[in-house]
Amino acid sequence: MDDAPIRIVDVHKRFGELVVLNGVSFDIPRGRTTAIIGPSGTGKSVMLKHIVGLIKPDSGQVRVFDTDMGRAREADVYRVRKRLGMLFQDGALFDSLSTGENIEFPLRQHHPELSVHERRDRVDEVLEMVELPGLYDRPTPALSGGQRKRVGLARAIVTRPELVLFDEPNSGLDPITSDAIDALIGHLKETLGVTFVVISHDIVGTINVADHIAMLYQGKLIAWGTRDEVTHSEHPIVRRFLGRNLILPHAGEPGPARLPTIG
Ligand SMILES: Nc1ncnc2c1ncn2[C@@H]1O[C@H](COP(=O)(O)OP(=O)(O)OP(=O)(O)O)[C@@H](O)[C@H]1O
Ligand SMILES: [Mg+2]
Repeated sequence: MDDAPIRIVDVHKRFGELVVLNGVSFDIPRGRTTAIIGPSGTGKSVMLKHIVGLIKPDSGQVRVFDTDMGRAREADVYRVRKRLGMLFQDGALFDSLSTGENIEFPLRQHHPELSVHERRDRVDEVLEMVELPGLYDRPTPALSGGQRKRVGLARAIVTRPELVLFDEPNSGLDPITSDAIDALIGHLKETLGVTFVVISHDIVGTINVADHIAMLYQGKLIAWGTRDEVTHSEHPIVRRFLGRNLILPHAGEPGPARLPTIG
């Protein structure tokens, strides 16, 4: 995959004695949604932090838009971050700012060239996209959990990033709100052509939005492929993790286990 926006190349990371990533490699394809799944504590968030350059690998490379995030100068890391949108686990909204001001925040930070009116138009546009039209002035503490999540999503896309990273977009949400967020992610991918990386505990929802799936387990990538390849994997740990409750998105299709077993 020559134009993969993210290339993870033999990444090793340990914290003291704890080996978290033990030689992980895969490319994240452009214009698609890739889910990173795996049990709790397996290094999914650590992987995401490598992508934004908050954590540096001990060895190996995390290349984002061809920048080696572990070794690049701070100015180059910043230039890459300007092209990213990130949705934090709890939405990470500032309660002292209104809903609209929260969404506007990265525009002020990264796009000082925009006029007040241009910024306001951009914010109103993304508020509509996340189905919260006209909520610019709503005080942030007055938002429900699902609304906060959608505002976080609006903030992640307001700069029109090429790449959007979501850590646990569905955590703490009821199944209906959670489904609505998944539908929204699917819609944004179609309309904006953005590359999404989603980490989630919500296996069913995540798999429904994912085109590609990477599964981490004990420091290794044990599954990587299209959604169909991974959901039809014969790997015992992948099978166990996906569980018997999984409703396959394309249940009728025969799926040979074409999945490489790594490590
Ligand atoms: N900065 C750090 N210093 C030391 N240990 C860390 C640090 N960050 C993460 N870890 C450890 O690395 C391991 C992987 O953490 P990580 O947060 O990536 O897990 P995760 O797969 O995202 O889990 P969850 O699904 O519960 O969110 C954990 O054991 C965690 O305690
Ligand atoms: Mg995590």
